[in-house]
Amino acid sequence: MKTEKIEIFDTTLRDGEQVPGCKLDKQEKINIALKLDELGVDVIEAGFPISSPGDFEAVQKISKIVKNAKVCALTRANKKDIEAAAKALQYAKKPRIHTGIGTSESHIKYKFNSTQDDILERAVEAVTYAKQFADDVEFYAEDAGRTDNLFLAKVCEAVIQAGATVVNIPDTTGYCLPSDYGEKIKFLKDNVKNIEQAIISCHCHNDLGMATANAIAGIINGARQIECTINGIGERAGNTALEEVVMIIKQHEKLGFHTDINSVMLNELSTLTSTTMGMFVQPNKAIVGANAFAHSSGIHQDGVIKRRDTYEIIDPREVGINESSIVLTARSGRSALAYRFKNIGYDVTKTELDILYQHFLMLADTKKEVTEKDLFTLMNSYSKKQLINHA
Ligand code: KIV
Ligand code: ZN
Repeated sequence: MKTEKIEIFDTTLRDGEQVPGCKLDKQEKINIALKLDELGVDVIEAGFPISSPGDFEAVQKISKIVKNAKVCALTRANKKDIEAAAKALQYAKKPRIHTGIGTSESHIKYKFNSTQDDILERAVEAVTYAKQFADDVEFYAEDAGRTDNLFLAKVCEAVIQAGATVVNIPDTTGYCLPSDYGEKIKFLKDNVKNIEQAIISCHCHNDLGMATANAIAGIINGARQIECTINGIGERAGNTALEEVVMIIKQHEKLGFHTDINSVMLNELSTLTSTTMGMFVQPNKAIVGANAFAHSSGIHQDGVIKRRDTYEIIDPREVGINESSIVLTARSGRSALAYRFKNIGYDVTKTELDILYQHFLMLADTKKEVTEKDLFTLMNSYSKKQLINHA
C-alpha cells in the first residue's frame, strides 16, 4: 500500500532542553544530534541561538556535522534573533529558520499589549526577513491551540504568501482535545487558499496528557509534520513523544502514513537522552519505559509464554529491546515460574513445580519481585529437602 510520508521534526535539543535540570553542554548536544541524524529524523531543532553563546555555538557545530537532517534554529519575530539563527546555521547543508509569534487573544493582549493587525504585520515581517537568509522558513503561531481559527487562517495565508514553507500550529498550553485540534488543522486545510504551498506542522504539549493523540489527530486531518521529543520531554508536562508517534504510525498501517525513522534505535535514543539529561523515564512510559514489555500477572504471563502477541502489540525487537520480560511477583503463575526456571537451566517436572510454587508464593509475598538469585536459592533448598526426605 502506498503511504504518505510524515516528517519527524525533533525538538529534544530545544523544547526538550528547556526543562529545568536538563540543560546540556555543547558536546552533549552534539552527541544527541548525531544519534538523531542516524535515527532518521527529518529535522533537528538544534537550539535557540540568541539565547546564549553556548547555544549559538552548539547550533553552529551541529550545523557543521549533521549529514542528512535539516538543521533548524528557533527565533522570536525580530531581526536580532533571526540574524543570530542565520549565522549559527550558516554551515548547515539544509538550514531552516523557525520564527514566529503568539497569535491567541491572551498572547496578543497580555504578552504583547498589541492588536491582531500588528501581530499579523510582525509575523509577515519576520518571515520576509528570515527568507533573506534561508529558503526554508517555518513559522509558528504560538498558542495556536487557543487562537481563533479565522485569525489563524489569516496569519497562515499571509506568512505563506511571504514565503513560509512550513506553518507550525502549536498547542502551546496542551489545552486542545484531539477532536478540536484535528478540526483546527482541517479548517486551515479548507480555508487557507495557498495552504498547498506549505506543510502544516503539529507541535503539541502534554499538559492534559493529549500531546500524542493531538499530533495523530493533526496528521489525520492534513498535517504532514510532527514536532516531538525523545521520551516526550519538554516544557512542563512535555511534548509529543517521538517514539510514540513513530510506533503509532507503524502499527496502524490503515492510517496510510510512514516515517523514515529506524525504530530499532528508539530504545538507544531514549537511554542516551535520559542519562545525558538526568531525566529518568517513568517505568510505565509507552514504548521505552522499563515495564513496556514486562509481564507480571499470571494470566498475562501464561498468554505471552504461549504466544507473544496475546498481550503485546509490538515486538520489542522493533524498538531495540531484546526480549519481553517475565517478572516474578506474588501475582505470577506456575507457567511463569517454570519458564524462569527453564531460563536458568532447570527443567522442572509438574510435581516439582507444584512444590516449588508453594515455596515461591511464600517468598513472593514478602518482597516486591523474586529475582534470579532467589530462584537459585529456592531450587537449592528444594533439592536439600528432597535429599533429606530421601535419606
Ligand atoms: O510550544 C510552543 O509554542 C513552542 C514554539 C516556540 C514553537 O515551542
Ligand atoms: Zn513547545
